[in-house]
This record gives sequence, structure tokens and C-alpha cells, in this order.
Amino acid sequence: MHRSELIQLLLDKKDNSRYLEIGIKRCDNLFRIKSKVKVGVDPAYQICRKYKFKKAFGFEKVELYRKYSDDFFNENPDGILNLGFNVVFIDGLHNFQQSLNDTLNSLKYISHDGFIILHDCNPISEARATPVERSYDEIQVKIENNEIEGWDGGWNGDVWKTIIYLRSIRSDLEIFTIDSDQGLGVIKFGDSQLLPFNKFEEVKVLDYQFLEKDRKNLLNLVSPSEGLARLK
Ligand SMILES: C[S@@+](CC[C@H](N)C(=O)[O-])C[C@H]1O[C@@H](n2cnc3c(N)ncnc32)[C@H](O)[C@@H]1O
Repeated sequence: MHRSELIQLLLDKKDNSRYLEIGIKRCDNLFRIKSKVKVGVDPAYQICRKYKFKKAFGFEKVELYRKYSDDFFNENPDGILNLGFNVVFIDGLHNFQQSLNDTLNSLKYISHDGFIILHDCNPISEARATPVERSYDEIQVKIENNEIEGWDGGWNGDVWKTIIYLRSIRSDLEIFTIDSDQGLGVIKFGDSQLLPFNKFEEVKVLDYQFLEKDRKNLLNLVSPSEGLARLK
């Protein structure tokens, strides 16, 4: 299952749906999604011509913000966050701290029956799971210096730690990961049993081997069909 398909399925449950995407890049996913309101945030987005046309003719309300997500949430430009969202898709900087910030901030603005979809939760190799501290540039430097053994061009970073940490500190959230499209984390309000990793620093130092040993349990990994059944 592709991320666009999952997001659309969730938005289609609502009339007048409102959608926020953090990290939009060339707007490929944002362009595919149909929603009454679409908001995109990215400090370096580009818009393809087809998308410009659609925006100009006003088929949908689309607002794009050239900002880092932390600034977007701090500033709440145009009061746009007050709209509230049915689905937030998080796909900005793929590291633990930033994906956690984005998730905690988004939780303040989703409806009680809303969803957060977190991309990149299930890296399939240590190379893809290479962590960075602050930016994409760090990965670029490592690639140029041939520092990442087994590099195949795909990068998920350590977003997986956000799933483990939230599953350890938030018993008011139901969290699972659909084993598709690099790991689609699904986060919604609901009761759950806690995992025992409740300190940020403790989770931050976990390595890829730790994930590899117990991935199904740590990520609450489910097949696409099981994921869809849970979302019914
Ligand atoms: C993987 S791409 C997004 C792809 C897009 N979601 C899609 O599915 O078509 C990640 C994007 O996140 C952006 N990004 C990096 N750090 C960010 C941040 N702190 N806040 C928002 N976006 C960020 C990058 O500029 C990049 O365009």
C-alpha cells in the first residue's frame, strides 16, 4: 500500500476534509491527495507546473508554507492551524527528535478521531537507518565520503525511535506500523499498553541491531490488510 492510498482512504471518511503534510518536496504526494483543504510545509519545496495550474484555478483550497516545521507550529501563520486537521502526514527531516516534535505538535491540531501518518518507520537496512543530528546535509556529506556501507539511495533515518518512544510514554495513543512503503506509522487517540522505554535519551542511543532483533513487536508491525482492518 502506497502512502497516498492510505491517506486518501482516511480523508475519504470525512466531508470537508482537512489535510496537513509536513515535508512536501516536489508536491508529488500532496498533488495526488484530494481534500477540501490541503496545507503543505517545507523549507525547500518546489511546485511542478501541473500543480501550479490546479492551484491557480482554485479547485481546492491549498496553502503552502516555505518554513521549517518547528517554525510553522510556533508561528501558526494566518492562524491556519486553527482549522484543525483530519489527517497529518509527517515526512520532513527523518530523525528521532524532529519526527517526535512534528508528531507532538500535530497531535494538538488533529480532530479527536483524526490520524497522524508517520513515514519512514520501518528501515530495511542499517544504511537506510543512518541517523543524523540536524539536517539532510549530514547524509549528503556521508554519501560523498562513502561512509555508509550498503547505501542504496533510500533513507529513513531513525524515525523508528519515535514509534518506540511514543508507545512507551503515551497510553492515550493507539500506534501501529503498516509494513508497506518504508513503514507507515499510524497514530490515533485510543488506549494502549505501554512499552518500557520511557526516557528520550535511552531511546536515542538504541541502534539498528536492537530494532532488527524485535522489529515486529517494537513497531507493532502489521500487514497492510491487518492495518486496514484496524482502521475500519
Ligand atoms: C522525503 S521528502 C518529502 C516527500 C513528500 N512527502 C512526498 O511523499 O512526495 C522530505 C522533505 O522534507 C523537507 N524537510 C526537511 N526538514 C524539514 C523540516 N524541519 N520541516 C519541514 N520539512 C522539512 C525537505 O526539504 C524535503 O523536501
